[in-house]
Amino acid sequence: MRSSLRDASPRRYLMCPPVHFKVTYSINPWMDPAKPVDLPLALTQWEDLRDRYRALGHTVELLEPQPDLPDMVYAANGATVIDDRVLGARFAHPEREAEAAVHLAWFRAAGYTEIHEPLHINEGEGDFAVTSSYVLAGRGFRSSPLSHDEAQEFFGRPVIGLELVDPRYYHLDTALSVLDDAADEIMYYPGAFSPGSRKVLQRLFPDALIAEERDAAALGLNAVSDGRHVLLPQAAVGLYEPLRDRGFEPLGMDLGELLKGGGSVKCCTQELRP
Ligand code: ARG
Repeated sequence: MRSSLRDASPRRYLMCPPVHFKVTYSINPWMDPAKPVDLPLALTQWEDLRDRYRALGHTVELLEPQPDLPDMVYAANGATVIDDRVLGARFAHPEREAEAAVHLAWFRAAGYTEIHEPLHINEGEGDFAVTSSYVLAGRGFRSSPLSHDEAQEFFGRPVIGLELVDPRYYHLDTALSVLDDAADEIMYYPGAFSPGSRKVLQRLFPDALIAEERDAAALGLNAVSDGRHVLLPQAAVGLYEPLRDRGFEPLGMDLGELLKGGGSVKCCTQELRP
């Protein structure tokens, strides 16, 4: 039986237009510098996502894109914000290092006062996912396990470390997505996690929506939910019905050009949690 539709709650997001987007280096298996990127199309696809958020009643703040930082469009990686507290990022690869300061400058200009510049490598919401009970934290490819303690101390919330084992799912947000943060409801692809981390997920989230490999491979877990609408890569068709069955409204988005950099809906969206 299908559940009744959920309630959305208004969100505030930080995004960065892909004005300087290109794939000239490869730091994840999705990136192939030999494959051309259609920049006007990338921009149109990104604008569709931005406009969709606004049409749903959410606020979208914008970061100024920088010419030498082609991955800045993946704004989720630049910080993690919970309770208006900003944990800055520290990138694993030198190609993205300078993005962290651009994010910090934005937060200072926006009037945030609780800002922590991290000691340990963490790629923002690429590896941190937030529910009301936990901060779920990925490690294995990018964020250091030491960043998990640092986040726990800064946010004062329990951080659950999860080990990623498949290079295609190099960030937590490529393998797991929060559907209802208030109710601790998530979806994930078990194959991306170590056996121990899979058991942890089963124990904490026994009712999670379990994604199939083909939907994970379409980056279907790289989704953003406002509690009702779930914006996700449109090719992840196997997720639509299970989401509807739970009372969510899946909204398929075409971010095909940004997939060439190894990211989709969630990577382009940093949530600013009050
Ligand atoms: N090319 C970027 C990288 O490899 C993609 C980042 C995607 N972002 C994300 N939140 N998973 O760093």
